[in-house]
Amino acid sequence: METALIKNLSRHAGEQVTVQGWVYNKRSSGKIIFLIIRDGSGLMQAVVAKQDMGEERFAEVKELTQESSVKVTGTVHQEPRSVGGYEMQVTSLEIVSIAEDYPITHKEHGVDFLAEHRHLWIRTPRQAAILRIRSEIEQALRSFLYERDFVLADAPIITPAACEGTTNLFEIDYHGEKGYLSQSGQLYNEANAMALGRVFCFGPTFRAEKSKTRRHLLEFWMIEAEMAYFDLEDNIRMQEEMIYYVIQRVLTKCQNEFKALDRDIEKLAAITLPFPRISYTDAVELLKQAGEQFTWGDDFGAPHETIISSYFNAPVFVHRYPTEIKAFYMKPDPDNPQVVLGADLLAPEGYGEIIGGGQRIDDLALLEARIDEHNLPKTAFEWYLDLRRFGTVPHSGFGLGLERTVAWLCGLDHIRETIPFPRMLHKMYP
Ligand code: 4AD
Ligand code: MG
Repeated sequence: METALIKNLSRHAGEQVTVQGWVYNKRSSGKIIFLIIRDGSGLMQAVVAKQDMGEERFAEVKELTQESSVKVTGTVHQEPRSVGGYEMQVTSLEIVSIAEDYPITHKEHGVDFLAEHRHLWIRTPRQAAILRIRSEIEQALRSFLYERDFVLADAPIITPAACEGTTNLFEIDYHGEKGYLSQSGQLYNEANAMALGRVFCFGPTFRAEKSKTRRHLLEFWMIEAEMAYFDLEDNIRMQEEMIYYVIQRVLTKCQNEFKALDRDIEKLAAITLPFPRISYTDAVELLKQAGEQFTWGDDFGAPHETIISSYFNAPVFVHRYPTEIKAFYMKPDPDNPQVVLGADLLAPEGYGEIIGGGQRIDDLALLEARIDEHNLPKTAFEWYLDLRRFGTVPHSGFGLGLERTVAWLCGLDHIRETIPFPRMLHKMYP
């Protein structure tokens, strides 16, 4: 018997197939039992009739508990009223395992309880839909970069120095030496870009954030690209094309998942190229117009980002932030060294910054001075300085936070549902 995934049932209308899954829900009316089966790819209603099963088997099926694992075989037919639009008339059913009392029932549970049971929570259709969209987003990001001639060059996780400031570093004991979990693969991307031209890395990054917000994880995934001979504008163009590509891809591929999430996808479908751009200085004016007290030179908090993006119905690039509040490697604007040639991409609908990026300092003396000003240990950066000694060129790059992007595209309130096992303040179980 051919096994089929629930998501592909439409290809099997009129055929006999086997679906291997778990009992998500069950109801019975006399001689018929309706099982809702989930297999990871979707939900399907399986109709079990006493006359097809025989008394004994039918009684066993009636006793099946939530999350019991089963293989059901039967004929598939279209049924618009059924979940997923297809239904199976079951001819035989194999019980693989009877589940104990399942803690996550079909009633409401508190989020703390669900988080403690994350290993099971991910089975619920809503959570599974988010994780499928996440997977599609990752795949789309990779496809886009490969199509644009990027080379994947993985960056190390254990590093001898900080990339994004020293206040949120996870320190590790590297056999007697101090090491840190990587905050960003960028510095290594820069070396790889000088070797390969256009590169990207995609891996977990770590920030020992002490704050509990809806946007921060202590371990998150970042896709980072770095391009030799790219200036800020080239960089921004690559980013907006990438985001647009990802949106089109998920709109096409994840329709069922968005439905499961009740996501208003019109807001995503309405986004067009190019994305708006605004300077930090003009964004400060917008904040003042909106009645905010804000001093030029301060960094934006989440509420400020929400106000700024509310002026646009698309992701917006905020460029040329004050040099003082940005990382040591950002290239000052030659026209006004008070600001840097960097840009953050703010997602619409109040989701805030999803990309940070910019043009890097390519001048040796200036980079050395910045490393001093930021009290960074120069010896740990000698290799990075070498990139400015041997054939330095203008170059730019960016890093996109995967979980924030998933939260935005899925329309979620909290980042904790965007990754199978989130790492948050005082929380690493399960
Ligand atoms: O703005 P960030 O700190 O930039 C960098 O790390 C650069 N080195 C990237 C580069 O140019 N190669 O981080 C980039 C993105 C943010 O825009 C945000 O989406 C995400 O990473 N991010 C976080 N996501 C979840 N939890 C956190 N604690 C995050 N910190 C940053
Ligand atoms: Mg940033």
